[in-house]
Amino acid sequence: MARKTLIAGNWKMNGRLADGVDLAKGIAAEVKKLGKPSCEFLVCPPFTILSSVKKALRGAKVALGAQDCHFAEKGAHTGDISPLMLTDLGCSYVILGHSERRADHFESNELVNKKAVAAHQAGLKTVICIGETLEQRDAGKTIAVCSDQILGSVPDDSTAADTVIAYEPVWAIGTGKTPTASDVEEVHAAVRKVLAKKLGKGNANKMRILYGGSVKPSNAKEFLSLPDVDGALIGGASLKVEDFMAIAKNSGC
Ligand code: PGA
Repeated sequence: MARKTLIAGNWKMNGRLADGVDLAKGIAAEVKKLGKPSCEFLVCPPFTILSSVKKALRGAKVALGAQDCHFAEKGAHTGDISPLMLTDLGCSYVILGHSERRADHFESNELVNKKAVAAHQAGLKTVICIGETLEQRDAGKTIAVCSDQILGSVPDDSTAADTVIAYEPVWAIGTGKTPTASDVEEVHAAVRKVLAKKLGKGNANKMRILYGGSVKPSNAKEFLSLPDVDGALIGGASLKVEDFMAIAKNSGC
């Protein structure tokens, strides 16, 4: 089965209400022009504007996702958001284990795994992020680190239907630096092998593995034409309609 390319925007902590609605409306209009797009589109705005962005996307084939969730359904967790609250708002996806959350909020593989289990139970699809730091890369540990993150962060009963992996080298995020295409393909192929061991070949072959880290219109084609790259998780360039859509078009959407 062919894996449907996923073009996902991670808006991070950007966008007040008016900006987010404008951006969502712009993306919705462009995606509508594509008619039946061959790719799947996803935007992940901050929690505060999820509901308004959902309205702005009405009628367009663009899924809504959040950037994190708690593992509990409800309860005494001040400041947190549960998976059910996200489905309430019309989210179908949640990004988990982004390196910024692993760094800023000390999220471990175990915690990401617990969150993913809860998200799946609530009916959300997860985009589980992995990736090495520059130090780990320089020490030749990229594949070992990514394998550990997959083994620890991805729930044992994950399937291609509820889980997407995003490989994002930490040093490539927001820096304009990227690995070479052959480096990316090597990691993605290794990730698929680890997924096959963990979840079985069938799931691994169907599961989408996105590349993320300084994806731009000018490099999208190079990365997205690689055999094991099934889409992109886009930060900075997802905040401009033209760039986000140019990445999609250059990826064959
Ligand atoms: P970037 O971010 O595209 O701005 O590098 C990607 C991400 O962190 O998901």
